[in-house]
Amino acid sequence: MGWPVMHSRSPMMHNYWFRQHDLAGTYVPLAIPPEGLASALRALRPLGFAGCNLTIPHKQQAMTIVDEVDTVAKRIGAISCVVVRPDGTLTGTNNDWFGFIHNLKQEQPGWRADAGPVAVIGAGGGSRAVCYGLLQEGAKEIRLVNRTFARAKSIADEFGGPIKALPWEQRHDVLDGAALAVNATSCGMIGQPALDIRLDKLPKTALAADIIYIPLETPFLAAARKRGNRTVNGLGMLLHQGRPAWKAWFGIDVEVTPGLRAIMEKSILSDE
Ligand SMILES: NC(=O)c1ccc[n+]([C@@H]2O[C@H](COP(=O)([O-])OP(=O)(O)OC[C@H]3O[C@@H](n4cnc5c(N)ncnc54)[C@H](OP(=O)(O)O)[C@@H]3O)[C@@H](O)[C@H]2O)c1
Repeated sequence: MGWPVMHSRSPMMHNYWFRQHDLAGTYVPLAIPPEGLASALRALRPLGFAGCNLTIPHKQQAMTIVDEVDTVAKRIGAISCVVVRPDGTLTGTNNDWFGFIHNLKQEQPGWRADAGPVAVIGAGGGSRAVCYGLLQEGAKEIRLVNRTFARAKSIADEFGGPIKALPWEQRHDVLDGAALAVNATSCGMIGQPALDIRLDKLPKTALAADIIYIPLETPFLAAARKRGNRTVNGLGMLLHQGRPAWKAWFGIDVEVTPGLRAIMEKSILSDE
């Protein structure tokens, strides 16, 4: 469910898994305006849905509608996945952090969150999931910068631990000595300006990751690749967050295969 939603790549991915597992079902985009979210979520059970994913602008509002918000979604402050339980009640969770971490692990085998300082640029919903995941994985130092400092500060205050909020002016300097740099802003997404950052202080050994997947290579990733850094784009974050959803909806372990990635990449490239 989203508003708008017809651009979503999620149906392609979930319907790939329906075919792969020979399961009689389908994943449909549901265009639901904010004022219709409560009725739409309540209709999941009578309509026979196992659950749904939520995208912009529903991830926060849904927290006030579902019967239970699990501890992960509470911590991240947003629901990305709703599960209809056998008794018909709705539980909300967030799988975006799982998607981010498992994409890095699949794309860069041996990657560790505690390999060195992590620079995270951006402090919106995606960043909250990224920071949560990095903390789960044992990151020892997270340097968080955002255009609006207060949003970075509130993540650092809420999550605590090794997250340090720093002013936007320091975005170039936080890359100094970093093992991982993440663009978690919407800058570089199709139709948006590129992220305004200089990479000269980023070690050549560092990994550069983006959570954006349209385009597959953002200007941030292109600049990092050109100077010799390894890069990981945001497509796998979308793909991997689908795995725990399938486990919760159908009890099935699905995989992010090269075939699935290829189908998704082809579809995105045809739109770029
Ligand atoms: N791969 C995935 O599965 C996945 C999952 C979630 C999100 N995403 C993608 O991640 C991106 C961010 O999503 P979100 O949900 O976190 O959005 P959001 O909550 O609206 O946050 C947007 C972030 O971008 C920053 N920003 C926007 N314009 C900027 C500019 N001109 N200069 C500097 N910073 C700017 C915002 O800073 P301010 O706080 O100052 O406004 C904020 O930190 C989107 O492209 C989304 O599609 C991907």
